Formats: sequence, structure tokens, C-alpha cells
Amino acid sequence: MTVLITGGAGYIGSHCGVAFLEAGYDIVVIDNLSNSSDVSLQRIEAITGQKVPCEIADIRDQSKLEEILVKHKCSAVVHFAGLKAVGESTKMPLAYYENNVVGTHRLLSAMANTGVKQMIFSSSATVYGEPQFLPLTEDHPTSAVNPYGRTKLMIEEMLGDVAASDPAWRFGILRYFNPVGAHLSGQIGENPLGVPNNLMPFITQVADGRREQLSVFGNDYDTRDGTGIRDYIHVTDLVEGHLRAHEVLASGSAPSNCFAVNLGTGNGYSVLEMVRAFERASNKEIRYAFAPRRDGDVAECYANTELAEKVLDWKADRDLDAMCRDTWNWVCKNPRGYETSAD
Ligand code: NAD
Ligand code: WQD
Repeated sequence: MTVLITGGAGYIGSHCGVAFLEAGYDIVVIDNLSNSSDVSLQRIEAITGQKVPCEIADIRDQSKLEEILVKHKCSAVVHFAGLKAVGESTKMPLAYYENNVVGTHRLLSAMANTGVKQMIFSSSATVYGEPQFLPLTEDHPTSAVNPYGRTKLMIEEMLGDVAASDPAWRFGILRYFNPVGAHLSGQIGENPLGVPNNLMPFITQVADGRREQLSVFGNDYDTRDGTGIRDYIHVTDLVEGHLRAHEVLASGSAPSNCFAVNLGTGNGYSVLEMVRAFERASNKEIRYAFAPRRDGDVAECYANTELAEKVLDWKADRDLDAMCRDTWNWVCKNPRGYETSAD
């Protein structure tokens, strides 16, 4: 059974490739390398000892998708490909709608034309907007406050409509909280191009001396230390959740033919708690200064994990120290990401 992984050269997709190969599935990757390097594919091969067939192509190319689905006899898709930077999405909304929404439409059309009717989709906790209550359950009202978030909501709705049109479709929508960490081997990890938007990659670049200090966006939130609280989840736990979702969909034991579950730990940590955990893991000082709140940020965001536990029989179990340790191991082994390696 071959699983097509879109965006499989990227951060989460590369870890997913390892998890699926190690679980005994054949995979094929499609990626246009717009935010990744094909070195990650060589690393997946080094970790697993298996070949990773890869098509360097764009998911908006529907005929190419159909060719790949048929050629590799795919039976399911795990769909990571898309653009993901919130700030950039406000400056280039059309690129986001084109890549994410049009791209997913083409992918679904290609799947329909080739009879492949199972997909796991990378959604985000961003679809909950400003939390009205915590922890966030899957029935929390959805709303989006930026174009990136709106693409995720539109895709969720598109999947719901397609599922309702034909019971043969099977969709698992996974709403990620804040994925961090790296593979235990330190061979694959997050490789942001340019100035990182997210907290963990920024902290790593302060730790390794590439950046002077971290700006902590807001210390006047109504939280235990005034800084923002998030539900950080180890990428290895996250991709194990995908494996379970795939198994649940393939075995027909899903609660419906289109379900959405949170992938988080249920624990919230503040920015300062993350800084301290990273200092412990790296033995480096993380210099920081308080800065104004960042537009669009919420004070607190963490998952209710009960539905994922029930539906997927899955629970994240790696703690914040493991997330920081594995991130630091990856950065030390690859000081410039995939461009250079310390080995
Ligand atoms: P990433 O940028 O590392 O991976 C995405 C991959 O998709 C990249 O390799 C990129 O080159 C590829 N890609 C982009 N557009 C493409 C296209 N049109 N055709 C083919 N390939 C294309 O990002 P990631 O962190 O691994 O995220 C994967 C998915 O998870 C994304 O859909 C993202 O929105 C979602 N997500 C990520 C986070 C997070 O914090 N990392 C949180 C919630 C949801
Ligand atoms: C975490 C905390 C910041 C950077 C984003 C997207 C979301 C999802 C995950 C894709 C917040 C603070 C950050 C910095 C800081 N992505 N921070 N200084 O904002 O929860 O979520 O990534 O779907 O859609 O919005 O993650 O890592 O950017 O921020 O103080 O330099 O760290 O204010 O409290 P966020 P993040």
C-alpha cells in the first residue's frame, strides 16, 4: 500500500515519511521544494535504509498528480504541502489561496479521477481563532483572523462537502497545535529559510549565536508570567498521530468519513518557560528582551486531547525537555540546516 505524502521534503512531512516507512508502508513524496531541500529526502533514506521515491513537482499540476497516483498505485494521501507563514499570508494572500486552496482542490480532483479516496489533512489550531474557552475542544467555534487561517478553514469545509457527497471518501483532519522538536537521530529537523517566525527556531538561532536576542512578544498577558502560552508538541508524537489516523481511516473504524481532531499535548507552556527549558537542554544562555505584543497573537492556546485519545487511541508523551533536547541535537549536527552538516 503506497501513501502519497505531499510536502514530504518539509519539516513535518519528512518526519512523517520516516514514521510511515518504519511502520512498513511504501511512500512516494511530491514536493516543489519551495520551502525545503531535497537533502531531507536523503536523510529519510539514511535513517530508514529505504529508498524514497520523490517527484519534484507542484500539487497544482493536476495531470502530474494523476500520473503519480496511478504510477505508484497510491491508496491514500497525507497532505502537508502548502504555505504556512501567517505574516506572509497577509502580504501575499493570493499566493496562499492559490497554493493551499487551489492546490488542495487540484489534489482532490486528481484523487477523484484516479479513485484514491483517503486523505489526512494538516490543519491548525489557528482555525479556532480567539479562544472562547480552554482547553480547546474540536467543537469550539471556528474563525480565522488571517488569510493563512482562512485557507485552512476553507479546505476543512471543502473536505466536509466532498465527504458528504460520497461516503466512499475518508478524511482525517488533524489540527496541530505548535509542532517543535526533531528526529532523535538529529538527521532531520526544522530548517526555516530567512528570519524564523516561530518561537522555537528563533530561540535556537539565539542559542547558536546567529541572533543577538529573542524578542518576547508581550509580557502583559493575563497568564502566569505575563507571556503567551502555547501547546508545544514534539514532531515525533505528531507524526505518530498521523500514522494512527491513517490506520483508523484505512480500517474503516473512524467515527465518520470526515473527522477532525486536535493534535496537542493538552499542556500549555509560556514563552519564558520555553526559554528556560531550552537553556537547560542546550546549556546556553538565551538572551531576551520584552517587546510589544505581536498582532493577531492570543494570550493562551492549548488543546483538549480527549477526542484524539478516543478516536486515534493516541496520546503525545514527549515532554518539553525532550522537545528542546532533540531540537538542539539537530541544530548542533546541522548548524546551517541542510546546507551544511557538522559531521
Ligand atoms: P514546511 O514548509 O516545512 O513543509 C511544507 C512543504 O510543502 C515544503 O517542503 C514545501 O516545499 C512544500 N510545498 C509548498 N507548496 C507546495 C506546492 N504547491 N506543491 C508542492 N509542494 C509544496 O511546513 P511544515 O511545518 O512541515 O508544515 C506542513 C503542513 O502543516 C502545512 O500545511 C502547514 O500549514 C501545516 N501546519 C504546520 C504547523 C507548524 O507550526 N509547522 C502548524 C499547523 C499546521
Ligand atoms: C509562540 C509564542 C509568540 C516568536 C503559529 C501560527 C499557527 C501555527 C503555529 C501553522 C507566542 C511568542 C514567538 C518570537 C515570541 N502555524 N514568540 N517571540 O503564533 O502560536 O502559532 O505557528 O499553522 O497558525 O500562528 O507560534 O511559535 O510563532 O509563537 O515571543 O520571536 O511565542 O508571541 O506567544 P503561534 P509561534
